[in-house]
Amino acid sequence: MTSTGANKAPHVPVLVNEVIAALAIHGGETAVDGTFGAGGYTRAMLSGGAGRVIGFDRDPDAIEAGRSLVPDPRLELIQENFSQMDRVLAERGIGLVDAIALDIGVSSMQIDRAERGFSFQADGPLDMRMSRSGLTAAEFLNSADEAEIARVLRDYGEEPRARAIARAIVAARPVERTGQLAAIVRRAAGFRPGQKSDPATRTFQAIRIHLNAELDELEQGLEAAERALKPGGRLAVVTFHSLEDRIVKRFLRERSGSTPAGSRHRPEIREPIEPTFERVAKPVSPSEREQAVNPRARSARLRSAIRTSAPSRKERLQ
Ligand SMILES: C[S@@+](CC[C@H](N)C(=O)[O-])C[C@H]1O[C@@H](n2cnc3c(N)ncnc32)[C@H](O)[C@@H]1O
Repeated sequence: MTSTGANKAPHVPVLVNEVIAALAIHGGETAVDGTFGAGGYTRAMLSGGAGRVIGFDRDPDAIEAGRSLVPDPRLELIQENFSQMDRVLAERGIGLVDAIALDIGVSSMQIDRAERGFSFQADGPLDMRMSRSGLTAAEFLNSADEAEIARVLRDYGEEPRARAIARAIVAARPVERTGQLAAIVRRAAGFRPGQKSDPATRTFQAIRIHLNAELDELEQGLEAAERALKPGGRLAVVTFHSLEDRIVKRFLRERSGSTPAGSRHRPEIREPIEPTFERVAKPVSPSEREQAVNPRARSARLRSAIRTSAPSRKERLQ
């Protein structure tokens, strides 16, 4: 797909040329790849002339594999959530950076390993923890009450049959395997083989987002990026569904001054806030060619903007 040889990688990077164009890395600059994965973006940043790349991933397997996937002395790999990037960069004396990329969601490496429990296509234990720590999907499904499971399926999977599926899960406990969960969901949602979209997709997405607190991480990651970028620094974020894209869109709108920062509940409070981002680009979707070659790219959307010299929200509030 790119001249970086990324098509041989265990994860085909999505919108990589567009991300690199948005990051506009000049020779020798320092960039953060907040979601290292299989290193597709990192490799492109390094071939684009970055002097130093800090790669974050919360998944210890990604960090372990990354050392041989991208054996480049300009790369430092850190197992940490991207929401912590500004703190970690400061602690390591790296300071503010020139460019930050986030590629939200799971990698093909995570999906393809049945033992990680992210996929309903191959049977494995119900795990789904990106960082391999915290509550597993099985622990959640076997202990939460029906209303809580239904809320997760509705809020994070936009599942119209959330109640019926939650009831079926509770009735079938203990639920331990991905194959078992997929069968329960299909039965409860009235799925027939050959039907276009498998309802298990929505349930698996919802549980994964909940367990890994993915939407909170995204919100906090955007704020961390605001604190970690130099004036003139570039931010590029790729998302894969509307729940995530809405968060990025709202953040950039608000931080670029396109919407007042007053609260929804107290709309009369409208402090004039100096924008922390400018030149917010129109969202970019993958070309038809990329979508044909990589079906996973179909729903991807890139948003990008440039950091101004205004103090971050946190600095302003201190
Ligand atoms: C879509 S993949 C990134 C793929 C990468 N751009 C590439 O080209 O190989 C997302 C990666 O981000 C990691 N990740 C997800 N949420 C994270 C978070 N909050 N902090 C750090 N890493 C995260 C996942 O573990 C996964 O490896």
